[in-house]
Amino acid sequence: MSSQQYSPGLENVIAATSSICTLDLERHVIVLRGYNLVELATKTTYEDVAYLTLYGHLPNRREYMEFTSRLREYRDIPKEVVEILEKMSRDSHPLLMMKAAVATLAAYDPELEDNSLEANFRKAERIIAKLATVTAAAYNIPNGRGYIRPKNDLPHTSNLFYMITGREPNDLEARIFEQSFTMYIEHELAVSTFAARVVASSMTDMYGAVISALAALKGPLHGRANEMAAKMIIEISSPENAEKYIQRILDRRERVMGFGHRVYRRGIDPRAEKCREMLKELSDAKGSNYYEIVERVVEIMQAKKNLYPNVDFYIGPLYHLLGIPIELYTPIFAASRIAGWTAHIAEQQANNRLFRPRARYEGPRDLKFIPLDERE
Ligand code: CMC
Repeated sequence: MSSQQYSPGLENVIAATSSICTLDLERHVIVLRGYNLVELATKTTYEDVAYLTLYGHLPNRREYMEFTSRLREYRDIPKEVVEILEKMSRDSHPLLMMKAAVATLAAYDPELEDNSLEANFRKAERIIAKLATVTAAAYNIPNGRGYIRPKNDLPHTSNLFYMITGREPNDLEARIFEQSFTMYIEHELAVSTFAARVVASSMTDMYGAVISALAALKGPLHGRANEMAAKMIIEISSPENAEKYIQRILDRRERVMGFGHRVYRRGIDPRAEKCREMLKELSDAKGSNYYEIVERVVEIMQAKKNLYPNVDFYIGPLYHLLGIPIELYTPIFAASRIAGWTAHIAEQQANNRLFRPRARYEGPRDLKFIPLDERE
């Protein structure tokens, strides 16, 4: 195979056809099913965008009401899932618990082995609804708060906020949480989505593909960056400390979490721009200096590395100001992205071709076999 066929990390390789989402770099827009994702996230509900992501069109009023009512009905999780979470080590990261919970949910889904498009849509709705409950339970159970049942009279994101914090959000919190949550809903072939599609291409079940996506999201180069960005802003604690702090990271040749992106190499992530505005609004409302610290870090990273912030850089401190525990930032990312993952899995399986690339072999050939008892 010629070396031209090889692109490390599949950079710039078109690995699938999809009508779900694209990152339009020329127009600086994330296109979701034809719409501007950032505009959707700020103008409508998570449920509206989730329906669009899954089914390819915005729902009419009847479709919307039926969809939201099904999601509410599916929110609760079987007691066996709660029991599995209760049995896991209290030190497990919530994402580990979520993988175990999704594996257990699979065992209770009567349509597990049916990969038809219709069954995949039905399973997707159940997983979208239940993953929010699993997210909160994966924090509440190991922290001794027990299983907090979902409230069916609240919208999807306010219910998630309630299950996590134990209280309903005020109007400002509800708006900012829903908008920032919806920003995460879909982002083309990020490593977790690609993992889901690759696994789905073996025609295994949707739950298995979701578990692989959760595993990919846990990595610091992908979803964990929001958690680590929040920790960094808390540790910096004041804009005056930012330069020394960042320089120390760069001197160690480590990465500053929440900066850089494989696709947005020459500009800011469009979601980050909007989340920056939200962080300003929330910092002002809560009397916090997070916005000033974040602005200073952006200035320093521009000057020293010419790197732009990505969405995780803003969402980490945003969630901290909302009173959400840090270890839940990546699980919350998953609870949103599940709509994108399941849409991709359904799309992949509806028109499947097994992913089976080749490797450029760099190992030895023609070695002479030596029987075990003759080896040195
Ligand atoms: N801090 C310091 N240096 C960086 C960073 C960073 N965050 N990101 C990239 N660089 C440097 C990198 O060291 C390299 O420098 P050099 O050429 O001197 O070796 C140069 O920039 C190019 O980086 P790259 O490794 O080619 O970039 P990549 O496309 O492989 O990586 C990335 C993209 C997101 C993995 C990387 O930017 C990174 O590790 N960022 C921090 C983690 C992060 O914020 N992840 C969230 C991504 S967006 C949301 C999501 O999808 O989850």
